[in-house]
Amino acid sequence: MNQPQQPASDAIEGARREADAHPYGILLVDDEEAILESLEFTLGDDYRVFKANSGPEGLEVLDREEVALVIADQVMPEMSGVEFLEKVIERKPQTIRMLLTGYADMPSLVRAINDGRIYRYIQKPWEPEEVRLDVKRALEAWALGTENVQLAANLAAANERLRAENVYLRQEVTRKYGFDQILGSTPAMQRVFEVMEKVAQTDATVLLSGETGTGKDLVARAVHYAGPRREKRFVAQNCGALPDTLLESELFGHKRGAFTGAHADKKGLFEVAHGGTIFLDEIGETEPGMQVRLLRVLQDGEIRPLGSSETRKVDVRIIAATNRELQAEVESARFREDLYYRLRVVEIAIPPLRERREDIPELAHHFLDAANEKMRRNLKGFTNAAMDRLMAHPWSGNVRELENEVQRAVALAGDAETVSVDLLSEHLRGARAEAPVGGIEMGVEQDLNRAVDELKRQMIRQAIEETGSKTRAAERLGIPRQSLQKMMKRLELND
Ligand SMILES: Nc1ncnc2c1ncn2[C@@H]1O[C@H](COP(=O)(O)OP(=O)(O)OP(=O)(O)O)[C@@H](O)[C@H]1O
Ligand SMILES: [Mg+2]
Repeated sequence: MNQPQQPASDAIEGARREADAHPYGILLVDDEEAILESLEFTLGDDYRVFKANSGPEGLEVLDREEVALVIADQVMPEMSGVEFLEKVIERKPQTIRMLLTGYADMPSLVRAINDGRIYRYIQKPWEPEEVRLDVKRALEAWALGTENVQLAANLAAANERLRAENVYLRQEVTRKYGFDQILGSTPAMQRVFEVMEKVAQTDATVLLSGETGTGKDLVARAVHYAGPRREKRFVAQNCGALPDTLLESELFGHKRGAFTGAHADKKGLFEVAHGGTIFLDEIGETEPGMQVRLLRVLQDGEIRPLGSSETRKVDVRIIAATNRELQAEVESARFREDLYYRLRVVEIAIPPLRERREDIPELAHHFLDAANEKMRRNLKGFTNAAMDRLMAHPWSGNVRELENEVQRAVALAGDAETVSVDLLSEHLRGARAEAPVGGIEMGVEQDLNRAVDELKRQMIRQAIEETGSKTRAAERLGIPRQSLQKMMKRLELND
């Protein structure tokens, strides 16, 4: 290899300047020095030229330098040009390969050309201008090729990242809205899960009914994400939250100018959810006009944007929810009967929490864990008395109310280790009005000890209130004052 000898720093500086000026490296391989020099003379002004006297030497250069194109002589003692180019393919397949042939070594040349091993062969003797042109064209094509390869690779990588991200996000939502996020071991909830599982695999319209906070939202999402539509969108609309026209535009979309303020065309949620699921929450709140339009979607799968004369087909699975007694609404003619029947192809009635009190401890601990994590607390659990209160409370706000109650307790806990009665909110601490003595409001499945404790609490509270002192209360209750004191401590009754 003949490279000019220069002091190191100069060499680097020179190389840099050269690299800037001539972006492409060209490697010339020939055992004849004269040929190398002649080619260098032809190409050296426009490219960075490396020279090697044999195949092995050429490979060394190839490993070390950025080489875009090689020109190798076919006839060389150690390694033929074609053999050398084969090795180039192995090491740097992108490199453009040209072969220099003195006399027609036809068979190997033809084979090399046919196999796509070489881009072009240069016949000796060559026209310098032709060689220059050949090299230039080859490099332009190469630049385009590598740029495309690079772009394609970038694109593929970006796509892959996006795909992975999507998969991850989907897993996240699927996890977040999975069945296992819905707690409940009571037979009532197990029945809900059974129906959910079956219905998730179908396109059947589902009507979810249940009091506020029973988990209708949660169930709707879980049904969507457990089914074949999970890759498509789940969109939710609260039908009670908007006046009729706005709701109509939300759901069905509108044309520009359809009403004051409709500045541009807008896609409705039914179209957004195409292929997926739409969740119509508080369906019982809809006006008669909206009920007719919903009926049309359910019957024909068609929507018509506001202000448009065209209808459009949509493929959307409908899950509706209501916390009203829809049957009663139908009877009093506030809800269309035909729509009701279309909606309740499958009805899932989620029982109120007070009808499945055995789920309370599991839910309470679940919310405690969540609140601990969120507020960086480490409460270990509930005192017996606190849990008794939770079990006895009527929970008109259902699971949501319980969740809020637990969050509140954790927020107030300071450095307490457990949630005790005094961390509960007022109406839970003094549950008397809701459960007067003798009429203690508890499920029949209630644990006996808990029921007795609750009864004791209520009797003690009542006695103290009515007699005005602990001594007289103890008398009234027929127990020693010390026993009352101890009992109150255990039952977490404050003085
Ligand atoms: N079975 C359950 N397991 C765990 N969390 C639950 C369960 N049921 C409800 N929740 C939680 O309780 C809260 C209320 O649930 P959700 O919003 O689904 O109720 P909803 O029936 O839609 O109420 P509303 O009628 O007021 O809209 C949510 O934070 C939800 O995660
Ligand atoms: Mg809801």
